[in-house]
Amino acid sequence: MNKNIAVIRGDGIGPEIVEQAILVLNKTAFLFGHTFTYVDVDMGGCAIDKWQDPLPQAMLDKCLSSDSVLLGAVGGSKWNRLPGEMRPEKGLLRLRQGMKVYSNNRPAKIWPQLSDASPLKPAIVEKGIDFIIVRELTGGIYFGEHKTEEEAGQKKATDILTYTEKEIERIGRIGFETARKRNKKLCSVEKSNVLDSSRLWKEGLHRLAAEYPDVELSDMLVDNCAMQIVKDPSQFDVIVTENMFGDILSDEASMITGSIGMIPSSSLGETTRGLYEPIHGSAPDIAGTDTANPIGTVLSAAMMLRYSFDLAKEADAIEKAVSHVLDAGCRTADIFPADAEKQKSCRKVGCSEMGRLIAEQIGKE
Ligand code: IPM
Ligand code: MG
Repeated sequence: MNKNIAVIRGDGIGPEIVEQAILVLNKTAFLFGHTFTYVDVDMGGCAIDKWQDPLPQAMLDKCLSSDSVLLGAVGGSKWNRLPGEMRPEKGLLRLRQGMKVYSNNRPAKIWPQLSDASPLKPAIVEKGIDFIIVRELTGGIYFGEHKTEEEAGQKKATDILTYTEKEIERIGRIGFETARKRNKKLCSVEKSNVLDSSRLWKEGLHRLAAEYPDVELSDMLVDNCAMQIVKDPSQFDVIVTENMFGDILSDEASMITGSIGMIPSSSLGETTRGLYEPIHGSAPDIAGTDTANPIGTVLSAAMMLRYSFDLAKEADAIEKAVSHVLDAGCRTADIFPADAEKQKSCRKVGCSEMGRLIAEQIGKE
């Protein structure tokens, strides 16, 4: 199979982690007889420096003519003072919107090898953590009007949160379809005790429920959900929620699995062209130190193979290799145990060594 992959290395640790994912993809392509061609795309702070634009149209076009997009991370303090439209993050939002990838899938699953890394009590972790957050990605407050005005001698800032029934229905369907393939439990998360957009959300989800009688739908207010994720995460199978709530809850969900560095994501719309990225940021504080965890990006590449290219065996091989390397005790700094006794069975490795070990392991079992 020949595939064209647009690669956005981005800022901070982005280039380091993407390098490892490409190593893993190349090994997989070699073993399974595929050809992956990579097209470099500038986005984020590096694009601002080079093109004075976080995502020039020509770069978006490269992504739109690829078979899928692999992204590291964007952003950094260097660009924090720029106006909203010129920030690195704006490039990411324009990419999501330009690719029309409205459905963001973020798995929160604990790797048994890392159960000690979870900040939750063992009794809670032992009940199991394995759920998916389906986050709406191209609507809501991220894409409403943003403005800062001067009024009565002081500044006033406004961000508008809008959802249409159509936007709610299409992401709701993804939630139900995802639950249907798993344990058939869908939790719709909103703030319907305060927000009109959440009341419309809840109504939309309940209307859809009639089409999915095999899926059990429940509702939860977002503040309660934040609490339930740490109190008893085993109750969740699939959570479906709007853009900003999904952003916040997915960081929380990743933390209880041990490290945000482990979590991949897929973003899809109506076509098989997806955007694949780890859910963590560009971590400028550790950029260039070879200490970042590349696993979230490696697993994002595996998701690309599975969901965009229909290469399940290849994706399985990558995930197995990750598991094997964890079994062998290899840990990047973020997942290295704090406990001296547990450290004895582990070895601290850097970003590039972790990538190399995973690539070497592919196809060995
Ligand atoms: C994420 C990130 C982005 C978001 C930022 C970088 C714009 O936090 O993918 O979760 O808020 O969506
Ligand atoms: Mg986030």
